[in-house]
Amino acid sequence: MYKLEKTSTSLYMQLYLQIKEDIKNNSLKGKLPSIRKMSSDYKISKNTVEAAYNQLYVEGYIYSKPQSGYFVNEEIYTKLKIQKPLKTTKEEKQKKYKYDFYQAKLSNDIFPKKLWAKLYNKVIKEEVNFFEYPNRQGDIGLREEIAKYLASSRAVNCSSEQIVIASGFSDIMFIIANLFKEYTNHFAIEYPGYKVAKKVFELMSYNIEEIAITKEGINLELLKNIKAKLLYVTPSHQYPTGVTIPISNRIKLISWAEKNNSYIIEDDYDSELSYYNRPIPSLQGINNNQRVIYIGTFSKAFSPALRVSYLVLPKCLIERYIKTFDFSYSGTCINTQKTLELFLKEGFWERHLRKVRTLNKKKHDLMKEFLLKYLKDSFKIIREGSGLTILIQAKLNIDFEKLQDKAIEKNIKIYLYTYKNTILISMGFGGFKEEEIEKAVIAFSKIWFECINL
Ligand SMILES: Cc1ncc(COP(=O)(O)O)c(C=O)c1O
Repeated sequence: MYKLEKTSTSLYMQLYLQIKEDIKNNSLKGKLPSIRKMSSDYKISKNTVEAAYNQLYVEGYIYSKPQSGYFVNEEIYTKLKIQKPLKTTKEEKQKKYKYDFYQAKLSNDIFPKKLWAKLYNKVIKEEVNFFEYPNRQGDIGLREEIAKYLASSRAVNCSSEQIVIASGFSDIMFIIANLFKEYTNHFAIEYPGYKVAKKVFELMSYNIEEIAITKEGINLELLKNIKAKLLYVTPSHQYPTGVTIPISNRIKLISWAEKNNSYIIEDDYDSELSYYNRPIPSLQGINNNQRVIYIGTFSKAFSPALRVSYLVLPKCLIERYIKTFDFSYSGTCINTQKTLELFLKEGFWERHLRKVRTLNKKKHDLMKEFLLKYLKDSFKIIREGSGLTILIQAKLNIDFEKLQDKAIEKNIKIYLYTYKNTILISMGFGGFKEEEIEKAVIAFSKIWFECINL
């Protein structure tokens, strides 16, 4: 018996859903009762029964035989039975560690939630045109604000037409890889370097040339022999080591690009977070050159969750960009773009940066203080003074496999990088509250000393 009630779901829909369920469970087989019988048994109109049967017929649950009526399509049950229910590939739940030393994390209290909500609401009411497609390259207003900000803070020389807003570094790398596909199949990257950049160009079938860095950034001597027409560098704070390319080498680097008809991708990912001095001005701004593709992000100083990054193309590449990407739109949601534009325009960004810098400098200094206090002279600092991490290297012989196992055991997440057979440990502090840092370092130091190979 089917249960048909007066609810917001129409009668025909109730009937259709219940019959369908019976067919799927194999509890209804053979011929269906005639429309007339159903109508009289359930005291509903023939039209209602007909509509329900019709829907089942259209979806293939039943079929009709001329002069005989409707029959259950029993194949449906067999097919449904064989099809093992798809294991829902449960996305790995973001595991909560007791202490997570991740280097690209900000603590929850830094994001200006109330202000963001206020600006967001204003933007939704007044600024967003929900009825039309947004600008492909990213909203012009936001691009103009970014151009102003980059000129004043990073000496980047650009106008809004050169800026493309994208939803993250990997998207930007895909854009660049596509822009250059016809011109080169070699991509050079500093070593050690940011694996995301390498990964994207590998996926795009480029040949990868890794160029070792020196104390002054990329090794210029090695550049002379490479085939690549595209070189990825992090000149202000080399990733992960933190070394800076001095101005003399920057000029040489640009001359190399000009001479070789090559382009440099300058990833300026964390220059907002320089604690000891102002970061050295961008490579892009030198001589108003046309050889640098500049990349920036709002992930480090604002929010990695919002997914707003941008690239600044040399003027000579704008046309190529527009032609290549005449089918696609910026992946960053227009509401976010517009809110961010207002945030910058009304001066909140500068205020926010001051706050983020002060807070993270404190955390940086605490991390350094406690590393020195608890790890004593068992390590040396490889990178400090910027970003959201301090990079260290063991001075003792540490069993790193054991260290990783022990960390898992104690619910601590650690991050190791290999460079020239040396293992570097990234002691990220951005995600911790100030008062957590000492406890986190104590917990780490305990497992650290248990893993010394004597
Ligand atoms: C070297 C480097 N470049 C760029 C980024 C920015 O990535 P996104 O803009 O996708 O958050 C990061 C973030 O961790 C990074 O470490």
